[in-house]
Amino acid sequence: MKKRLALSLNQDQSKSLEKIKTMALITGFYEAKSVSEELKKLDSLSNGVLKKLISREELQGKVGQNLYIASLEGSKAERVYVIGCGKKSSTLSKDQTIKMLSSVVRVAISSGVSDVAIALPSLKTKDGDEWVLSQLSRMLEHQVYTYDAKLNKKNKKVNKLKKVVISLSSTVSDAKLKKAIKVGQAIGQGSNEAKDLANLPGNVCTPTYIANASKTAARNYDSLSCKVLGEKEMKKLGMDCLLSVGAGSAQESKLITIEYKGGKKGDQPYVLVGKGITFDTGGISLKPGGAMDEMKFDMCGAASVVGTLQVAAELKLPINVVGIIASAENMPGSKATKPGDVVKTMSGLTVEILNTDAEGRLVLADALTYAKRFKPKTVVDIATLTGAVIMALGYSTSGLMSNDDNLAKALISAGENSTDRAWQLPIWDIYQKDLDSNFADIANIGGRAGTITAACFLSRFTKDYKWAHLDVAGTAQYKGAAKGGSGRPVPLLSQYLIDNS
Ligand code: BES
Ligand code: MN
Ligand code: ZN
Repeated sequence: MKKRLALSLNQDQSKSLEKIKTMALITGFYEAKSVSEELKKLDSLSNGVLKKLISREELQGKVGQNLYIASLEGSKAERVYVIGCGKKSSTLSKDQTIKMLSSVVRVAISSGVSDVAIALPSLKTKDGDEWVLSQLSRMLEHQVYTYDAKLNKKNKKVNKLKKVVISLSSTVSDAKLKKAIKVGQAIGQGSNEAKDLANLPGNVCTPTYIANASKTAARNYDSLSCKVLGEKEMKKLGMDCLLSVGAGSAQESKLITIEYKGGKKGDQPYVLVGKGITFDTGGISLKPGGAMDEMKFDMCGAASVVGTLQVAAELKLPINVVGIIASAENMPGSKATKPGDVVKTMSGLTVEILNTDAEGRLVLADALTYAKRFKPKTVVDIATLTGAVIMALGYSTSGLMSNDDNLAKALISAGENSTDRAWQLPIWDIYQKDLDSNFADIANIGGRAGTITAACFLSRFTKDYKWAHLDVAGTAQYKGAAKGGSGRPVPLLSQYLIDNS
């Protein structure tokens, strides 16, 4: 995976801030009327500049506030940023800690220099110092990311930031803090791998491209291997349902399997199944034109699988993981599937395709049946499956549905822990009848609860194992000025695997 930053821990720097030689020093300050212990030396060397800034209320210490000091006499840093850390007496909540760290990261990047030193004071947070450094590292790697693969050389975007030395007043051992930085950075890198795949246009990022990218990723780690099935091989396996989605496309559909072997030979694997529609026109049930370009992001589930497998390999997690990617391009055309067509799934169930735009569940149905052969411990599928999940949960929270409450709980907690949240929706039996069909075993759409009925459809193929479904239609991409892949839910999935290691 591409490391964009050199991150390291140097606990000595926290002891004497004034001695840190750097282009930019980023440190912290609590809400207070006087200079904190950590800043006292700097203040006296600068003849009380910090004291003055406090009395003028320019330095307040409110969570996330930042104050820029062009040059501080007595400090070996060329410039100093002081970030507010809130009240020293109170424990920072998760959201407050993230707000503070966001400021640190924003300042580190916008400072425009290549070398930064981050020296945080001792913090009282809900989740502890390892969590703080892990999040900080993940956020640094995540924010320094730029996408310019298709830009002219002279328009390439560069973030100058290259090197960050981190310290934190803490009682936790250096070894543990170093590990936390490593884990956070690996998760950030995994998210960035996912973003890269997501951001490529549909005319480049085809099912074949994802297959080749997966093979390349596997070549970079001894513990990863990759196998790709084409249409002929899928036909032999009876995957007519998956194949029906790519029927109108000139691009060949692919079923990609990436295996990570970090556990013992017989250890049941955690299986991740990703929706990899490299462009979703809707097919014959054509989508309206507005914002249709964003349907190049319909492979973000697949991208998160590729990213997460690399995190597992990078961190050498002592478990086995299998990633399965169902990839196709959903196009109209003379060979395309039509509304009313009936296809047979690998499981034997027949499906009446009432709407060719509900294609994600069709490719996932056969991939989920295929997953059985790995005798999975659990199966989690990740898909930009429904616009309806955005109505329910907006752009900040992924939808989660599961046939196993413990698995659901584990994923919610991993999401909470990694600030990549998911929330559960029910898939009670009362919704299942919405998929009744007069012409096949099931229909591919029905009812008003779009996100839930999509999951109900998937549940028909996941009866033999513990399964959860993440609908990431709202969370896998950013909108507006930051338009692009978000790398989610790589943090959630990675944390889930770490929690099981
Ligand atoms: N890829 C879309 C879902 C989607 C919508 C993702 C918006 C990201 C943003 C999916 O294939 C789709 O078209 N779903 C339909 C289902 C409907 C036909 C039942 C939808 O949500 O409208
Ligand atoms: Mn669709
Ligand atoms: Zn789709």
